[in-house]
Amino acid sequence: MNQLKVDLSNIYTQVAKEEVFALKTKIAQNQLLLEQGTGKGSDFLGWLNLPSSITKEQLYDIQHTASELRAKSDVVVIVGIGGSYLGAKAAIDSLSSSFTQLTEDVLPKIIFAGNSICEDYHAELLELLETKRYSIVVISKSGTTTEPAITFRVLKQHLERQVGKTEAASRIVAITDLSKGALRKLADSEGYRTFVIPDDVGGRFSVLTPVGLLPIAIAGIDIVKLVEGARKAMDDTSSSVAFDQNPACIYAAARNALYQKGKKVEILVNFTPRLHYLTEWWKQLFGESEGKEGKGIFPAGVDFTTDLHSMGQYIQEGERMLFETVLSVEKPSHRLVVPDDPDNLDQLNFLSGKRFSEVNLMAQMGTIAAHSDGGVPCISISIPELSPYWVGYLFYFFERACALSGYTLGVNPFDQPGVEAYKRNMFALLGKPGYEADGRKLREKLGL
Ligand code: PA5
Repeated sequence: MNQLKVDLSNIYTQVAKEEVFALKTKIAQNQLLLEQGTGKGSDFLGWLNLPSSITKEQLYDIQHTASELRAKSDVVVIVGIGGSYLGAKAAIDSLSSSFTQLTEDVLPKIIFAGNSICEDYHAELLELLETKRYSIVVISKSGTTTEPAITFRVLKQHLERQVGKTEAASRIVAITDLSKGALRKLADSEGYRTFVIPDDVGGRFSVLTPVGLLPIAIAGIDIVKLVEGARKAMDDTSSSVAFDQNPACIYAAARNALYQKGKKVEILVNFTPRLHYLTEWWKQLFGESEGKEGKGIFPAGVDFTTDLHSMGQYIQEGERMLFETVLSVEKPSHRLVVPDDPDNLDQLNFLSGKRFSEVNLMAQMGTIAAHSDGGVPCISISIPELSPYWVGYLFYFFERACALSGYTLGVNPFDQPGVEAYKRNMFALLGKPGYEADGRKLREKLGL
C-alpha cells in the first residue's frame, strides 16, 4: 500500500515493545498539547496547520514569482542559513538528478550562499556570477542573521554593478518578517518583491512557507503536490489517528524509549545519495528542538553504503550509545541492471541481471541485521518513492514527530536559546556596538 511505514521490529533486542507502548498515554497528551496550543512554546505552532491553511492563491503567487525569476536567470542564488535554507536544499536535492549542476540545459542553476562565512566560497561565487545572468532570493526570518546579511550585501552590490539598480531590484526577492528586522526595512526601501514568514513559524519548521516553497518552485518542482503530501501527513498524524496507526506517534515513542535505555545518539541513515540534505534538514530540526537543558538525542547522519566504508566500523563495534533510523525509498526512479559478462573476470556474474536497487536493498537488509546484532537498534522508515508528494509528506511527518518527541522529553521544542551564545561572542570580538565590555573580557580570556 502507498504509505509511509515505520517498522520497529529491529529495536526490540534493546527495548521491550511494552516500553515503547508505555509512552502511548504521554504521547496522546502531547498530541492534545499541540492541537489545543497549551504546551511549551505554543506561540510557535503556526507550522501545525500550514499544509491545510496555505491557499491556492498563495501557492499561485509563489509559482508566478518562481516563473518570473526562472525566465530572467541562468542562476538563482538562494541566500539563507539554518531553517532558512536547509528545507529548500533538502527538497531540491531529493527531487533533482544527482547531476543537475553538470547538465547544461537545466536552467536556472540553484546555488545556495550565506550559509557560511567562508571567504573563498563567496569570492569564488562572485567570480562565477561575473558572466552569469542571475537573480537573488534572500531569506532571513529575523532579518539580522550575520551570515546571510553580509553575503547579501556583497551580492546586492555585485548585481547592481552588473545590471544597474533598477534591474537588480527586479531580480531580488526577500523572504522575511512582516514588519521587523533590517532585511524588511531594506526590502521595503529598495522596493523588492517580498514574501512573509509568519511570526508563529520558527525557522526549522518553515519549509512549507515561502522560505522553502519559493526556492523549490524555482527549481521547477511541483509545490502543489508537495503541499498535498504534507496535508496527507497532517491527516495521518493527527490526534484522531490511533497511536499504533500513527507514524509520528510511533516514531516519537520509539526514539524516547531508546533514549531512556541510554541510546543517546540517533543516526539517520539513507541508501540514496539524493537524501543527504534531507538528513541535514532533519539534524537541524531535531538538534535545535531537543538539545537543551542538558538533554536530548544527538542527531547524526550517514549516507550508506558510502559511509559503511568509513563509519561502519564504529557503528558495528564502537560505544553502544547509538541507534539508527533507516530512511528508505521503495521504488527507484530509474532502472539499471548489472550486465552479464561471459569472461566473468571480476567474478560478479552471480549478480548478472539483478537491478542495482536489489543489490542496494540486500545491502540495507544485511546492514540492519548486522547492526542490530551488534547492539545498535534500528527503526525503519520507508516511503514509496522520491516524489514531491512524498518529500512533502516526510517534512510534515518529521516536524510532527519532532514536536511530540520534544514534549515527551520535557523540553520546549520550539526555542533555540543556545544558538545565541556563539553570536554574542562573535559580535563582542568584532566590536559590534553594544558589545564593547564583553569584547574586552573575551579578548583578555582568549589572550588577544
Ligand atoms: O531554526 C531556527 O530558528 C534557526 O536555525 C534559524 O533558521 C537560523 O538561525 C536562520 O535564522 P534567520 O532566518 O532569522 O536568518
